[in-house]
Amino acid sequence: MNATRKVYVETYGCQMNLADSEVVQSVMHAAGYGRADSLAEADVIFVNTCAIRENAEARIYGRLGDFKHLKKENPGVIVGVLGCMAERLRMDLMETESHVDLVVGPDEYRRLPGLVDRAFEGEKGIAVRLSRVENYDDILPLRTEGISAWVSVMRGCDKFCTFCVVPFTRGRERSRSLAGVVREVEDLTQKGFREVTLLGQNVNSYNDGGHDFADLLAAVAQVDRSLRVRFTTSHPQDMSDKLIDTIAAHENLCKYVHLPVQSGSDRILELMNRTYTVDHYRKLVERIMTRIPGVSLSTDIIAGFPSETDDDHAATMALMREITYDGAFTFAYSPRENTKAWDMPDSVPNEVKLRRLNEIIDVQREISFRKNQSEIGRVVEVLVEGESKRSAADYCGRTDTNKMVVFPRNGEAPGQVARVAIRRANAATLFGETIGAH
Ligand code: 5AD
Ligand code: SF4
Repeated sequence: MNATRKVYVETYGCQMNLADSEVVQSVMHAAGYGRADSLAEADVIFVNTCAIRENAEARIYGRLGDFKHLKKENPGVIVGVLGCMAERLRMDLMETESHVDLVVGPDEYRRLPGLVDRAFEGEKGIAVRLSRVENYDDILPLRTEGISAWVSVMRGCDKFCTFCVVPFTRGRERSRSLAGVVREVEDLTQKGFREVTLLGQNVNSYNDGGHDFADLLAAVAQVDRSLRVRFTTSHPQDMSDKLIDTIAAHENLCKYVHLPVQSGSDRILELMNRTYTVDHYRKLVERIMTRIPGVSLSTDIIAGFPSETDDDHAATMALMREITYDGAFTFAYSPRENTKAWDMPDSVPNEVKLRRLNEIIDVQREISFRKNQSEIGRVVEVLVEGESKRSAADYCGRTDTNKMVVFPRNGEAPGQVARVAIRRANAATLFGETIGAH
């Protein structure tokens, strides 16, 4: 094995993919490969892909086109497609993209070194078996240094929302061991990380021999009381009171819950197989808000699901105004093969989908602006992440409630918690001045 060969991983899609790419780097590192910091120095290029919507796939196809040119100039380089698109398209991808050497699904990353070795000898490879048990519990992800780290705690999804391809690309739900997660978080704190985000498609279903997600959160919170702990994503169906009380009980568990509602219409929720009604969701939000004072909430919303009417859409916007989310991730419905909704007529015309999407975005912008204005004059605690995108003279970071804050540098260092007095705000960002740091 040539120890100087280097791997470059380009990641698309969700945070779970970012975490998986670190597992991939770790597996390759253990087999003697180095990490390439740029495409130019890569001997192996992996694209970790997303299949959640058609436009995600279109972007990745465009990128694979770039790699085709790159491979003409440098035929020795190996190109591998990893992740959800690999799982969804399998052999087809190999056939349509002739320059792709490897197609490897999310449960087959342990096999990468062997597949890459054979690819260097000219043999193409495909590995797309999904597993009921693979959770990479024993693999310590290879991270770049930083303030904030992703920690995958469970994989897969058993919910089968009718629009969603994830149960097909990532397979059945399975959890890592509580002890394994705690060990990883201990290691992260020793390496100087100040924040961890526990990840799963549906973290509320976490289960390790009777330990549920609330137990896991409590155990992680105790590792280091100054470490900020976040998690995502919660499904409204099984968000227990025990979990809500656990978040409230630990100072370092961030007061922020991402709770996708998808639609504000019971009829659409039923067609989506979301297994809750608007009323159930509303009561859950009330419990969260009462038991966790100052909690911040965000959501996911899909515009233009099959058969959605203007009234259904109006109900979604009314619910957004009622709940006043702190943030919303919004999407136009995109039909995905194999899902149940694929068989429902994609009845909402594209321009209507986009109009509704834009209306939803406008409603959220107005709410976010108003909420952010109400922060003016307050002092918030910000975990300093580093320079702001716009100016090296400014630092940026997030509040416990996940709001982005920008302020002039004033002797603090990344990783510290700065106390920032908020002076102005727009819909996306709070701006202020530090009055201390620790
Ligand atoms: N079309 C549009 N949005 C989708 N999502 C999942 N599948 C689709 C789809 N087919 C959205 C959901 C989910 C988020 C991660 O992506 O809102 O919560
Ligand atoms: Fe997809 Fe629903 Fe599972 Fe989320 S809970 S990954 S939307 S099937």
